[in-house]
Amino acid sequence: MNKNSLLSMRDLSAEEIMTILNDALLFDEKYQDWQLPCRKALVANLFYESSTRTHYSFESAELQLGCKVADIAVSQSSVTKGETLYDTVKTLEAVGYDAVVIRHPQDAYYKELENVNIPILNGGDGAGDHPTQCLLDLLTMYKEFGTLKGLNVVICGDILHSRVASSNKEALEKLGSTVRFAGPKEWQREGFPVVDLDEVISEVDVVMMLRIQRERGAALTDMKDDESYLEKYGLSKARYAKLKDSAIVMHPAPVNRGVEIDTDLVEAEKSRIFPQMSNGVLVRKAVIKRAFGFESFE
Ligand code: CP
Repeated sequence: MNKNSLLSMRDLSAEEIMTILNDALLFDEKYQDWQLPCRKALVANLFYESSTRTHYSFESAELQLGCKVADIAVSQSSVTKGETLYDTVKTLEAVGYDAVVIRHPQDAYYKELENVNIPILNGGDGAGDHPTQCLLDLLTMYKEFGTLKGLNVVICGDILHSRVASSNKEALEKLGSTVRFAGPKEWQREGFPVVDLDEVISEVDVVMMLRIQRERGAALTDMKDDESYLEKYGLSKARYAKLKDSAIVMHPAPVNRGVEIDTDLVEAEKSRIFPQMSNGVLVRKAVIKRAFGFESFE
């Protein structure tokens, strides 16, 4: 496996995470026009699952960095003839791509790709990890609070099917934040500390709502309709009103409006949902810079 791959937040030390975040900040504040100083930088985006934010913010980052980009249409590729993930990625390497971004429904799909030599950037694996989503979440908090040490974070909702929950737990604990989880008990995970959202809402710095991942089989026996979910487990206006002045609301999106969060709160003052997406381009620029082995901006 190429050492500049990004597969899981487990693989990054606190120092490496902070290097990526500081590069993302430099892309924002100083090096907006910086491009990869390579003779060629061909990047393939290989998405086996649908995506708007991850796919097109990677593409935006790649284009801003001067990469040449190929969007691999999985449905028109030889995947439809039964070609394996490994053979598909080895083919992209053989025909000259220098890096590949992959989203795939299988947990830890990248374990099959040990013999691939080009960097692999994980755009989400099943219910496993979503490292660039985690990095953009961290950047959003870092920009807001100036530190990730000592933050009090609650992540609410469909924890069981969420790769965002596990990546954020891993990273935030490594960086000194407290992370707890709320929502339906059927969707909690072993080893993830559970709290009642109503008991902690007035003390948290960050409340991160998660989408119900119905495509991964999420269903509740006690959920009559979307309004009952919002009332019981979501960010309603009543809960929002209890947040501290300095607290922020996050959601990886896409949002089920009126389910995880009241639709009027998606762009409320404390919401950072759309800024999270802008931060996604910055961290993906930093991750691509790292993938191509550039440590500095010189
Ligand atoms: N947050 C996120 O991963 O969104 P997409 O599925 O649209 O990429």
